Amino acid sequence: MAFFPEEFIEQVRNANDITEVIGEYVQLERRGRNFLGLCPFHAEKTPSFNVNPEKQLYYCFGCHAGGTVFNFVMETQKISFPEAVRALAMRANIPLPETAAKSPAVRAQQKEKQLLYRVNQWATEYFHRQLRQMPEAEKARDYLARRGFSSDLVQEMKLGYAPAGWTDLVAAAERSRVPLSALAKLGLIVPRRQQEGYYDRFRARVMIPITDERGRIVAFGGRVLDDSQPKYLNSPESVLFDKGRLLFGLHYANPFIRKTGSAILVEGYMDCLSAWQFGIGHVVGTLGTALTIAQARLLKRYTDHVILCYDADGSGLQAALRGLDILLKAGLQVRVAILPSGQDPDDCLRQQGPDYFLQEVIGKAQPVVDFQLAMLRKEHDLNTVDGKARFVKAAASLLAALDNEVAKTAYAQQIAHDLQVPESAVLAELAKQARASRSKQRDKLGNSRNTTRSMELAMMAETDPVLRGYQVAEDKLLNLILSDQVNGQELLLAWQELDVYAYPADRELVALLLEEMQAGQVLDGRRLLERIDNREVAERLAQVMWSENIELENAAIVARDCLDKLKHLAIHQAITAVQEKLRIEKDTVKRKQLLQELQTLLEKQKGMGH
Ligand code: UTP
Ligand code: MN
Repeated sequence: MAFFPEEFIEQVRNANDITEVIGEYVQLERRGRNFLGLCPFHAEKTPSFNVNPEKQLYYCFGCHAGGTVFNFVMETQKISFPEAVRALAMRANIPLPETAAKSPAVRAQQKEKQLLYRVNQWATEYFHRQLRQMPEAEKARDYLARRGFSSDLVQEMKLGYAPAGWTDLVAAAERSRVPLSALAKLGLIVPRRQQEGYYDRFRARVMIPITDERGRIVAFGGRVLDDSQPKYLNSPESVLFDKGRLLFGLHYANPFIRKTGSAILVEGYMDCLSAWQFGIGHVVGTLGTALTIAQARLLKRYTDHVILCYDADGSGLQAALRGLDILLKAGLQVRVAILPSGQDPDDCLRQQGPDYFLQEVIGKAQPVVDFQLAMLRKEHDLNTVDGKARFVKAAASLLAALDNEVAKTAYAQQIAHDLQVPESAVLAELAKQARASRSKQRDKLGNSRNTTRSMELAMMAETDPVLRGYQVAEDKLLNLILSDQVNGQELLLAWQELDVYAYPADRELVALLLEEMQAGQVLDGRRLLERIDNREVAERLAQVMWSENIELENAAIVARDCLDKLKHLAIHQAITAVQEKLRIEKDTVKRKQLLQELQTLLEKQKGMGH
C-alpha cells in the first residue's frame, strides 16, 4: 500500500466535497440538513441513502453502508484506499507527492503483481489470436459455434485456444521476451522434471480468461474439446488468483446486477457464458467449488438478492443447500431456482430458450423455506408412518426458526394437508420445536462473548428489548469516546477488560480505537473508517459516527454509567448460560454445582442493584 502523508490526505479530503462527489453518481435531494437519494449499494425504490455535508459522511439506513468521500469512491469503483486518494487528488487537480514513503519490499511486491497481470494479459491475447487464426484451432472454433457462442461473445470475453503442442506458449513467450519465470508463477507453464526448461500446462483446450471484480485477468479455465478428462483444467492459485474469493464474471455482470437489483449464481463457466450470450447479464459463477463466505460477502457488496441456480442433479442440489446457508449468513435474500431434471442452466437456455429460463426457472424460483422443505421431503419416505413422523419433526424444526407467525402456520397447514395428517399434530410439533429453538437462541446469546455472529444478534436485538437496552448504552459510550468528551483510553481499557459487547463488531472496534490511542494518535473516526478492512466493523463505526454528537456537562459520569450497565450484560449473559446448562444437565452432582454457580451469579446481580 502506498502511504501518503496525512496532511496530503486531509488536503484531498477538503478539496472534494462529499455532496458534490456523490452527486455526480447519485441523484440527491436536500432534506433538512441531509441530502437524500437512492442507495447505489443496494437495490431500493424509496431512498434511504443520506449524505451529510457538515459531517462529510454518507450513511444508508437500508444496507448500513457508510463512510467518507474516500469510502464512497473505494466502494463504487472497487479500488483500494490509496487508489481512491489518487483518484480524488486528480479530480481536484492536486499533484501527487513523491511516493518515496513506500517501503522497498512493498514496492517490489507491487511491481511483481503488475508484471503478472501484464503476462496474463499477454497470454490472453496470445490464446485469442490462436483461436482466431490457427488452422489447428478450426475444431475449437467449431466447438464454440456448436455451443452457440457468437463471434462477438468470443471477442468480448477474449476466449482463446491453447495449441496441442507441448511448447507453443513457451516458444511464443521466448519470442516476445515474456519472462518464463512469470508464466511459471501463474501456472501457465510447468518446469520439466528431468531436464531444464518448461512445457505448456494447457494444451488443445478452449481457454476462458478469469477476471477479478475489477476486470483484471487473474487465471484461466481450459476446456477439452471432447469427452476426455479432466474436462476443465484451471490455473493454480497464485498471487493474483484466490479461487475462494472470486466470482467468475462479476466484472462483466456488475452493471446488469445493478440494473436488475439481483444476481443469478450458477456453478459453471459455460452457464455464465451461455446466459451472457442470451443477453442475461446478471449471472456469476462459483466455478464448481463450494461457495465460501468470502464469495457471499463479495456478492453482497453488489446486491441483496441472489437466485441460486445450480445443476438439477443430486450433487447440485446438495451444493445449493449448503450455499444457501452461506448466502443467508452474509445477509443476502435468497431464492432457489429449480431447473428441469438433468439440466444445468446452459442446457436449459439452449433447449428451452431464454424466455422459458427467465420466466419459468428464474421467475418461479422458490423462497428458501419452500426449497428446504422440498429437499427434506426427498430425504424421507412419506409412505411410512415413521418417515412421516421424522419429516414433520425436521420440517417443524426448520419452521420454528421463522419469525413470521402467519407464514409458520400456513406452512404447517400445507404440510398437514400434503401428508394427510391432522393439522393439530403438525402444530404441536411446531410448538415443541419453537420452545427448543428459543432456548437455543438464549444459549447463543449467553455465549455471545465468544461468537462473532453479529447478524444473528442484530436480528435478535429487534425482538429482545433487554439486549436493545444494552445496545443503547453502547452507542452512547462510543459516541462520547469518539467526540472526545471523556478520557477515551481509560474507558476503552476498562471496556476491553470487561470484554462484553452488545454489538459483536464492537469488540474489534474497541481494540482498534485503543490501538490508535495507544499509538499516540488523536482519535479520528474518519481516518479510521477509511482504513478498516473488516466491513462489519467499518459499518458499525459509520453508524456511530452518523448519529448526532451528544454534548454533555457530565460526560464522564454518563460514560461510566454506560460501562457499568455493560457489566450487567456480562452477568445477564452468564446467568442465561448457566440456566440453559441446568435445563439439560441430568447428573445430580453437576446440577448441584451449576445451581451453586447460579446462586452466586444472582447474588452478584442483586449486589449490583439490578
Ligand atoms: P460442470 O461439469 O457442470 O461444467 O462443472 P459445465 O460448466 O456445465 O461445463 P460443460 O457444459 O460440460 O462444458 C461446473 C464447473 O466446475 C468446474 C468448472 O468451473 C465448471 O464450469 N470444473 C468442472 C472444473 O474445474 N474441473 C472439472 O474437471 C470439471
Ligand atoms: Mn454444462
